[in-house]
Amino acid sequence: MARPTVKTYKEQKFDHLRGLEGISDKQVEEHLSLYAGYVKQVNTLNEELAKLRADGKASGKNAEFAELTRRLGFEYGGMILHEYYFSNLRRAAEPKPAASSPLATALGESFGSVDQWRTDFQAIGEMRGIGWVILFEDPVTDRLTNHWVTLHQEGIPAGFKPLLVMDVWEHAFMRDYKATEKAKYVEAFFRNIDWAIVERRLQETQAIRPAAA
Ligand SMILES: [Fe+2]
Repeated sequence: MARPTVKTYKEQKFDHLRGLEGISDKQVEEHLSLYAGYVKQVNTLNEELAKLRADGKASGKNAEFAELTRRLGFEYGGMILHEYYFSNLRRAAEPKPAASSPLATALGESFGSVDQWRTDFQAIGEMRGIGWVILFEDPVTDRLTNHWVTLHQEGIPAGFKPLLVMDVWEHAFMRDYKATEKAKYVEAFFRNIDWAIVERRLQETQAIRPAAA
C-alpha cells in the first residue's frame, strides 16, 4: 500500500500559555516566535535535502549535503522539544502530582519519592550550559530517569518517551531573569507544570506531542 504524501510541519498554537506564574506573557511570546523558526527550518532543510538527493548530490564528500544533514538533528530537536515544553505548561497549576497517581507512584519507584525526583531534576536544571532537562521513561523497563540534553540533540536516549521537558536555554528566561538567576526560573517552571499532561504521557504507549498537521 502506498504511503500518503509526507506533509510539511505546521507551527502549533499554544494560546493557553498566558498568565503563567513567574514566566511573563512577553517571555512566552518571544519564545513562541523562536519555536516558529525551528518549524520553518525543519521544512526548509527537508526540502533542500530532497533537492540534493534528486540532483544526485547526496554524498558524504559534498560539504553542503553533510552540513545540512548535521543541522537536521538540531532543528528537529528544537522543534520537537519546544512542543513538549510548551504543552507541559499551564496556568493555575497544581504544585505536584496527586499523591496516589500512577505518575507519583512511578516517580517514587524510580527516585524514592516525588520530592527526591524533583530535587534531582532541579539540580540538573542548575547545571552550567544551555540545553534541556528531560524526565524520560524507558518503555522497555518502565524506569524513569532525568537527563541533561545539550543544545537540542545531544543526550537523548533513542526510543525513550519524554514525560516532562524543561527548557534551560537562556532565551527561555532572560526577559524575566538575569543570566545568573536560572535557579529562580527553574522554581517558576515548577509552579506551572501541567501534571495531567505528564500523567497522560506516562499512560500512553506512544510518545505524545502536538502532531504535525
Ligand atoms: Fe527554547
